[in-house]
Amino acid sequence: MSETVLMNPFPEALVDARVVGKKISWYPETASTNTLALESGVDGAVFVAEYQTAGRGRHGRRWHSAPGLGLYFSVALWGPLRGVTFGAALAARDALSSGCAVAIRWPNDLCCGQRKIGGILVEQREGLLALGIGINVNQHMDDFPSCLRHRAGSLLMATGVVWDRRETFCQLLMHLDAVVQRLRTGEFDVIHAEWTDACNMIGKRVRRGAITGKVTAVDMEGALLLQTATGMKRVGCGDVTISDIE
Ligand code: BTN
Repeated sequence: MSETVLMNPFPEALVDARVVGKKISWYPETASTNTLALESGVDGAVFVAEYQTAGRGRHGRRWHSAPGLGLYFSVALWGPLRGVTFGAALAARDALSSGCAVAIRWPNDLCCGQRKIGGILVEQREGLLALGIGINVNQHMDDFPSCLRHRAGSLLMATGVVWDRRETFCQLLMHLDAVVQRLRTGEFDVIHAEWTDACNMIGKRVRRGAITGKVTAVDMEGALLLQTATGMKRVGCGDVTISDIE
C-alpha cells in the first residue's frame, strides 16, 4: 500500500515580517495549533496544520478541521496584548476583502452572509498568548458534519471559486503582523472603535435569556451594554437573539 506524502504548501517565513510570521512551522496533523503556540515561547512564531484532531473553538466547542481544505493556524505572542481578538478579526476581514465581503458578527465570528466562515480563539498560559484562527477556505457543504451544515460556510461556497490557500495565508499573516504592531504601539482604543463599528450592534434590540434591551455600547472586553426596562445591563460573550433593528 502506498502512503500519501503531504508537501508543505506554505512558506517557512513571511518576507518583511516584523513579528508575526518570522518563523512558520507546518504540520500535516496535530491536535491543536493553539497547543503548539502555547508551548513554543517564541514571539511571532506561527504554527499551521493541514488537519487538527482536537481543534478547539470558543466555549469549549470543537473546531472542525477538514483536512487540507481550510487554514488552521496559531500565532504565539508574548503578552499581555489587550485587544488582540478585536485586532485579529479586523485583520482577517481585511485580508480576505479583495476576494470576499466578510463581516464580523458579535462576539467575534467571521461571516459571509449568515454563514460562519471563520473563528478566533485566544488562549493564555503564563506570559504567552496563542492567537488561533480557523478559516474555512475550500470546503463544500458536504465537507462539514451534518450538524454544522445549516450555519457553516467557506470562502469557496461564498464566492464560487477555489481559493489559493498559500496566498490567503500570507495575506492573513501580513494583516496580523500590522495589527499586532498597532496594538503594541498603543492603538487599542482606535482598534476597539473600528471593531465596534464593524460588529454593527449599536442600536440593535437583543435578547439573552430573560434580558431584553437595546445595545448602547460594546465595552472594552467586547460585552454588550444594554438599556433595559430596569436599567443598564451587561451581556458578555454568548448567544444573543437579535429581535429587531432600530
Ligand atoms: C471559534 O469558536 O469561533 C474559534 C475557532 C478557532 C479555531 C482555530 S483553528 C486554529 C486554532 N487551533 C485551535 O485548536 N483552535 C484555533
